[in-house]
Amino acid sequence: MLSEKMSIALNDQIKWELYSSYLYLSMATYFKDKGLEGFARWMEVQALEELFHAMKFYSYINERGAKVELQPIDGPPTTWQSVTAVFEHVLEHERHVTERIHRLVDQAIEEKDHATNNFLQWFVAEQVEEEASASEVLNKVKLVEGGQGLFMLDRELGQRTFTLPPGTTIIGLGKA
Ligand code: FEO
Repeated sequence: MLSEKMSIALNDQIKWELYSSYLYLSMATYFKDKGLEGFARWMEVQALEELFHAMKFYSYINERGAKVELQPIDGPPTTWQSVTAVFEHVLEHERHVTERIHRLVDQAIEEKDHATNNFLQWFVAEQVEEEASASEVLNKVKLVEGGQGLFMLDRELGQRTFTLPPGTTIIGLGKA
């Protein structure tokens, strides 16, 4: 059984993951409007990944016999100054999510909730990847923004596809 405090904290994280999905979908829309279909595709995949993260918390809370209580989600920004500004925002947002995940781990350790700590370790590793991939794209964008290289990068980012980790079953997202 989850403690009341842990149940509230995990429910709160569902909201953050859904907000992340909403934010990246808004960024996808911004790129579509600019005709950067590859960048838009990269963000659509990112939005799906965040939805998957939210569903992992949803499934875990249910599995532990607690109640999922969905909260209102803030509207995301809809415009940015430049492509670089978008990816600076992505990196800043992911760093914030990492902090939140680490605080959840601290709480699980404090409560000696080993199951939740174990569940959260997937997210600890995922956040290392999330920050690394945001940094990588940000560095590339900084090099090419304003030049022809942006269209080459657009083609490269358009190759991204969404794949569930092998063996994953998530309601509504099929089985990998
Ligand atoms: Fe679910 Fe990008 O953190």
